[in-house]
Amino acid sequence: MTEQPYRIALIPGDGVGKEVVPAARRVLEALPLAFDFVELDAGWEVFERTGTALPQRTASVIRGCDGAIFGATQSPSRKVEGYSSPILALRRQLDLYANLRPVVSMPVPGSRPGIDLLIVRENTECLYVRQERLEDGGNTAVAQRVITRRASERIARKAFEQARARLRNLEIGDWRFPPQSPISNPQSPISQSQNRPPRVTIVHKANVLSLTDGLFRETCLAVAREFPDVQVEEQIVDSMIYRLIREPERYDVIVAPNLYGDILSDAAAALVGGLGLAPSANAGDNFALVEPVHGSAPDIASQGIANPCATILAAAQLLDALGEAGAAAQIQAAVTRTLADGIWSADLGGTAGTAEMTTAVIERLGD
Ligand code: NAI
Ligand code: MG
Repeated sequence: MTEQPYRIALIPGDGVGKEVVPAARRVLEALPLAFDFVELDAGWEVFERTGTALPQRTASVIRGCDGAIFGATQSPSRKVEGYSSPILALRRQLDLYANLRPVVSMPVPGSRPGIDLLIVRENTECLYVRQERLEDGGNTAVAQRVITRRASERIARKAFEQARARLRNLEIGDWRFPPQSPISNPQSPISQSQNRPPRVTIVHKANVLSLTDGLFRETCLAVAREFPDVQVEEQIVDSMIYRLIREPERYDVIVAPNLYGDILSDAAAALVGGLGLAPSANAGDNFALVEPVHGSAPDIASQGIANPCATILAAAQLLDALGEAGAAAQIQAAVTRTLADGIWSADLGGTAGTAEMTTAVIERLGD
């Protein structure tokens, strides 16, 4: 047991968030670590009840926590007075400037083999500053794109640090391709990566956007010089998508400005089994808020059939951020074994419910 329990905020939100966050909690509780969980409200349901999607208590209590697990919130598709997305507000308030999306092959029918990469997406600027305006009587729409040296520098540093940490974690235990897995492959890049230095691929379009993407590229290359043990390469964003689909196994860490990172990470998730398995972390310098990539899935909510794996894998990312790489690897291994044993939820073509999958993961912890 750790001396001091980790204080973790749980923000289930709406829809399947209320099912998958408790599932991740059960998995964490099965580990030989001490946690102190705090349940907090956010989302559409609390907005309807109280008039705010991010209650003051949530925004303040989370600051006293070591990390947070966010489920999903339902956003209205029409504009609703007073409503704004709580996840966007939390990312801003906690300065969670990096979005980390691991993309790893899984033993399920929809996954391609041999993939183990991490997309590091800048989370605060680029076109997402949402400075748009109409000109010329509404016949011209202009959006401002902001790239700063400061944001580019810290996202690059996060990417290079992650590249180093991934190599270290391989030494703790290669959980990714258990021998009994149907996708086990001695030629996998995982075995190769144990013999090759970590690598960061910088994504940009500096050939066209020479000032904005030029600054991003130049700043990333300058940070690269602080990490002589990490290889660096660059790739123009359109050919990046092409190569990602053609040969995803060749990539290690990919760093990109906000918009390119957003598009790349959804494309990459489609290579490895879909939304039910895709986790993400919003990380700052001292805090991580992890979440599944999927939304509140109203079409399957309250039926007990949501796939909890994305959120369970997100909880593993949180442990990694807390410095508990061994426990993180244990959870990842248990999820991989559960899937290799054919215990699949409906989205993967199986019949296991949320509770059954969660129990199966817990039973495989420490195998
Ligand atoms: P969604 O991700 O909720 O669902 C897309 C499809 O994937 C649906 O068919 C759903 O059943 C399935 N799916 C999602 N999670 C699953 C799981 N754990 N297990 C099995 N199947 C799963 O995206 P959609 O339908 O576009 O959005 C629904 C609501 O979620 C909207 O209000 C949207 O604004 C919100 N949303 C919230 C996000 C967040 O909180 N970060 C992210 C994306 C959407
Ligand atoms: Mg997206």
